[in-house]
Amino acid sequence: MAKINDNYHKLQSGYLFPEIARRTREFAERNPGATLVKLGIGDTTKPLTPTVIKSLHQEIDNLANAKTYTGYGVEQGNPDLRQALADYYKSFGVNIHADEVFVSDGAKPDSANIQSIFADNSVIAVQDPVYPVYVDSAVIGGKTREYKDGRYEGIVYMDCNEDNGFFPEIPKQKVDLIYLCSPNNPTGAVATHEQLKAFIDYAHANDAVIIFDSAYAAFISDPSLPRSIYEIEGAETCAIEISSFSKLAGFTGVRLGWTIVPHKLAIEGTHPGEVQALWNRRQSTMFNGASNIVQPGGMAVLSKPGLKESQELIDYYMANAKIIRDGLNDVGITTFGGVNAPYIWAKTPGGMDSWEFFDLLMNQAHVVGTPGVGFGRGGEGYFRLSAFSDRANVKKAMKSIKVNLHL
Ligand code: MLT
Repeated sequence: MAKINDNYHKLQSGYLFPEIARRTREFAERNPGATLVKLGIGDTTKPLTPTVIKSLHQEIDNLANAKTYTGYGVEQGNPDLRQALADYYKSFGVNIHADEVFVSDGAKPDSANIQSIFADNSVIAVQDPVYPVYVDSAVIGGKTREYKDGRYEGIVYMDCNEDNGFFPEIPKQKVDLIYLCSPNNPTGAVATHEQLKAFIDYAHANDAVIIFDSAYAAFISDPSLPRSIYEIEGAETCAIEISSFSKLAGFTGVRLGWTIVPHKLAIEGTHPGEVQALWNRRQSTMFNGASNIVQPGGMAVLSKPGLKESQELIDYYMANAKIIRDGLNDVGITTFGGVNAPYIWAKTPGGMDSWEFFDLLMNQAHVVGTPGVGFGRGGEGYFRLSAFSDRANVKKAMKSIKVNLHL
């Protein structure tokens, strides 16, 4: 008899963004004339840049011609793209070998799928607030028990709050897998070298593996902050890094990412190369490689003109971030992040809870944000605004907050 995976029943009230979409739909039904400015989901809005578009068009033409047509590619990714990514890391001082880079269809699936190469009973530590995918995929994979008081038993939550600058202390207990996201989604905090070093030392002492999500690394403008965990000594023996072209180059819908599993990474009972071989096996079995149209687009992003154009996109979104920070500060709302990250993490005014403020902001100012509690118990009392929007919309939102939001 077929049975469903009962772990799905443990998941809480749907994924965060569909829940936001549901509330905004209901608002639209109640207020047919009103237009909402959506600064909720972090989804890019600017078109792909000319260098990328040219490459994508070229690739379509190649598929239209029998002489240049290609079918299945290499599961691990186009070797030229893997090399281009290794070279990209080299540009900020990180030595990665091309065969340690696994190209994928994005950081989100990789950050969930990576759990499958580790033991079912692995204890997972996450930052709280946290990007929900890390937790929900652990739940689906049966790595958690009951949900109580806003947290799953079996997961170790590492508090991120104003007192610790939204970056956690190392866990007090022994854990196996540690998710770190820097620049952080949702808080916009960026880990320093020293903070990451403490986790690397912890991982070595406890035979743990760090899964480092650097999807927003390109938004770091402060040269003293690390853009990759491999900038810190010792990371190549204990850390996997997952990243993406989504926010770097507006590929949220195009889909292209990568995961780095260093050859030297080894945990108890394995030899160097074995963890990497397992990820290779997983990808070769369950993934047929990223789209052959898209991968040259990734190479175009990493070319000299491509990187320059991407930087212009990033600068545009970061100018939005400043407008959002200033706008919120002007009405007395305290903000964090938004300096080396495209997310502004704000304290809900007057001690309101996150969903209460979400509804108030939507109903009064017609602005949609993301309630902090949607990222976990540690996000209660905060909300997140995304800088991925058109300038006119951002200005409209800030003006409306100033005029229409009554606190
Ligand atoms: C977000 O809004 O947190 C992001 O869009 C999520 C994602 O990149 O999957």
